[in-house]
Amino acid sequence: MNNQEFSLSQKYKDYFPIGAAVNRKTITSHQELLLRHFNSITLESEMKFELLHPAENTYTFSTADMIIDIAKKHNMKVRGHTLVWHRQTSEWVFLDRNGELVSREVLLERIEEHINRVMSRYKNDVYSWDVVNEAIAEGTDYLRDSKWLTIIGKDYVEKIFTYAHRADPKAQLFYNDYDVVIPEKRDKIIRLIRELKQKEVPVHGIGLQGHWNIYFPSIDLIKEAFDKYAELGLPLQITELDVSMYEFHDKSKMDKPSPEMYEKQTIFYEKIFALFREYRDIITGVTVWGIADDKTWLDNFPVRDRKNWPLLFDTSHQPKEAFHKIMDF
Ligand code: XIL
Repeated sequence: MNNQEFSLSQKYKDYFPIGAAVNRKTITSHQELLLRHFNSITLESEMKFELLHPAENTYTFSTADMIIDIAKKHNMKVRGHTLVWHRQTSEWVFLDRNGELVSREVLLERIEEHINRVMSRYKNDVYSWDVVNEAIAEGTDYLRDSKWLTIIGKDYVEKIFTYAHRADPKAQLFYNDYDVVIPEKRDKIIRLIRELKQKEVPVHGIGLQGHWNIYFPSIDLIKEAFDKYAELGLPLQITELDVSMYEFHDKSKMDKPSPEMYEKQTIFYEKIFALFREYRDIITGVTVWGIADDKTWLDNFPVRDRKNWPLLFDTSHQPKEAFHKIMDF
């Protein structure tokens, strides 16, 4: 492999941008790998509500600005993440001066102001937004129980997309979620997107997080999901890919994965990237949720202080076997 080929995003330039989630630390500590292999970024938390807007009249843009400036300097795309979510959202937005829940009107006004402020600030820098994140419930409910739903009501998702489109008509607006290949949840996501489209709500794509593990899901299940989502006629992006070494409900810890586990991970990456390439007509981006195994959110989720090794580069920033396999086509 010659030197020029030894770049993931270069290798995939005719397929889709290759992104990585970065944060205020890794944008420096992992910059060499980032600039060499990726041509898109997502800010891991720095654009979430509570980090940008901690109090009603206080916006804190400096960290996001710093990261986005680096991306711009290196011609990287930026995905905005995220405008409305049930987590990492400042509590003040839901409450009045007496600590009571605000009315639907007040919350709509507040979120519209937030969206206008944030999206207009980044309108030349951020090309796509995860507008609403994880609004579908696990289990049998349709929409997830959240303050957004309780206070605004069932039409909150369409309201938010409408505000986002108004704030930046050129931005690509995504609905983003996890467990997207599990049939029950998948079908509810499809129902939501159908309903939005029927009402002519501006939704432009579906973000499939891709927090997977070496045991689940099967390639067949992922493929089946791509086919179903494709029927909606919207582009898909893999927005938060990582491949955990643990089964989801496994709470045990290990010092290091066995060779068999690494092998499973390699095969998993190899197969999903082959599948992504096969679906290049509808997949418009693939983003990995982190850069190298020394820094991953999975070190603290779903079990605190448990090491994980879910990415394409190892703890010393060296390419793993999985990396070599996805470069080899
Ligand atoms: C995670 C970040 O990686 C962590 O650093 C943070 O503590 C919690 O959020 N789905 C999402 C992401 O949409 O925003 C989450 O990111 C991971 C799950």
